[in-house]
Amino acid sequence: MEKKRELYRGKAKSVYETDDPNHYIMLFRDDTSAFNGKKIEQLDRKGRTNNHFNFFIMKKLEEAGIPVHVEELLSDTECLVKKLEMVPVECVVRNVSAGSICKRYGVKEGLDLNPPTFEFFLKSDALDDPMVNDSHIVSFGWGTQEDIDTMRNLSYKINEVLKDLFDKAGLILVDYKLEFGKYNGQLILGDEFSPDGCRLWDKETRKKLDKDRFRQGLGGVIEAYEEVARRIGCPL
Ligand code: C5P
Repeated sequence: MEKKRELYRGKAKSVYETDDPNHYIMLFRDDTSAFNGKKIEQLDRKGRTNNHFNFFIMKKLEEAGIPVHVEELLSDTECLVKKLEMVPVECVVRNVSAGSICKRYGVKEGLDLNPPTFEFFLKSDALDDPMVNDSHIVSFGWGTQEDIDTMRNLSYKINEVLKDLFDKAGLILVDYKLEFGKYNGQLILGDEFSPDGCRLWDKETRKKLDKDRFRQGLGGVIEAYEEVARRIGCPL
């Protein structure tokens, strides 16, 4: 597979065209950003860690019947993915309160959310990713009601698979963000699943083992990601 021009450069990943019109190469960089790009640092080994982590999780999800865009690990920092037409919303599932939901509703961090909450956010750096509802998505043409139902159902199904996987490794899956896109008309899980886009706490100590270590300046960011990988049996 030949890597061609960089098509898109996000805050932590780049997407390259290939000589195959149906596939892209996704490159995980060491760049780490938070607060919509206001805090940016290079963290050694992050690209490599997240690439392996993402591949491992996506394959677990695929085994559980979730359609995913990841096809093949190409190198320590690159993987081959299906070319999707992305739905411009982020899907967030929360099992425990943390982050923006605490600020928004004035609730304490660490409350069990049962049933888990599900939220949509519009992908827009310029607008700081505002929360949107089903009606906004349909009325503005970002997706159909059927797309919405599929994204919500897949997000909850993914929750069952991943809550269990992390629980067996002594970890609480607090919350996470997913993005979906279309391939031949079918909605498929795209983007990435890594400690950059989820919250994971140690079950016993509630130690944070995700990007909150970077956001909150707690240090040991990559060491925490590597510990999670080791605990779930993900080779790095
Ligand atoms: O900030 P908030 O609490 O809404 O984030 C919920 C979850 O979604 C967290 O795990 C966070 O890392 C993830 N997220 C993300 N990218 C965003 C917004 C949130 O990965 N743009």
